[in-house]
Amino acid sequence: MRSIRVWDLPTRLFHWLLVGSVIGMFITANVDDALSWHFRIGYFIASLLLFRVVWGLVGGYWSRFTHFRWSVQGFFRTLRGGLREPSHVGHGHAGTWSVVALLTVLGAQVTTGLFSDDDISMAGPLASLVDGEWVSRLTSIHKEVTKVGVLVLVLLHVGAIAFYAWRRKQNLVRAMVTGDHSLDEMPINTPASRDGWAQRALALVIWAACAAAVAGMVSRFG
Ligand code: HEM
Repeated sequence: MRSIRVWDLPTRLFHWLLVGSVIGMFITANVDDALSWHFRIGYFIASLLLFRVVWGLVGGYWSRFTHFRWSVQGFFRTLRGGLREPSHVGHGHAGTWSVVALLTVLGAQVTTGLFSDDDISMAGPLASLVDGEWVSRLTSIHKEVTKVGVLVLVLLHVGAIAFYAWRRKQNLVRAMVTGDHSLDEMPINTPASRDGWAQRALALVIWAACAAAVAGMVSRFG
């Protein structure tokens, strides 16, 4: 059994901070007087999503979009085969498309939130840029469409992870916690993701720039 670093620390932190933040978004959307926290967590999620897009270009080997398995045929073959895939490291075909769907719908949820208005006291920082009709349209999409999309995709995501553990005897969660993935027959030349302190410092700088961009947008228009 050979083990290599698959998920660098920035990718793992991104994932678990995103999980906590999405849970926080659902709680603060449904608790009285928590809307200001809903906004803050939303800005934090925006910074995480921006970070992940940049990290998909310059991050560790298996976090890069170029090393996702994009084949649409491969995706449908995996679905038809009951989520059975040849053993691999990184995101498989099903993982790739579920991750892309999750990131896209979360992006849409955050974007519509920036234009939303609760009709009482709080409005997203970009609501003043469009007319009232668009604000109510985007608010409805935020509350009724993209929110449901996020819920459905999260349930599918967690369901698929549980299915892999139960039926395929593959523990994917361990790699998302420790960073390392073990395979019985790992080809000897399988590359590992770089995860040294220089790489981690770069991730911090990128996230700080993304957070500053979001803060700049809020203070400019909010
Ligand atoms: C709000 C809930 C969640 C969201 C929004 C979410 C989102 C994501 C995203 C965006 C990725 C891609 C990571 C990357 O490449 O950057 C991912 C991967 C992953 N997530 Fe989650 N996740 C959620 C909950 C969970 C939970 C509860 C678990 C574990 C029980 C989990 C386990 C994993 C694993 C193992 C992967 C890697 C999948 C693979 O190997 O292809 N996730 N998740």
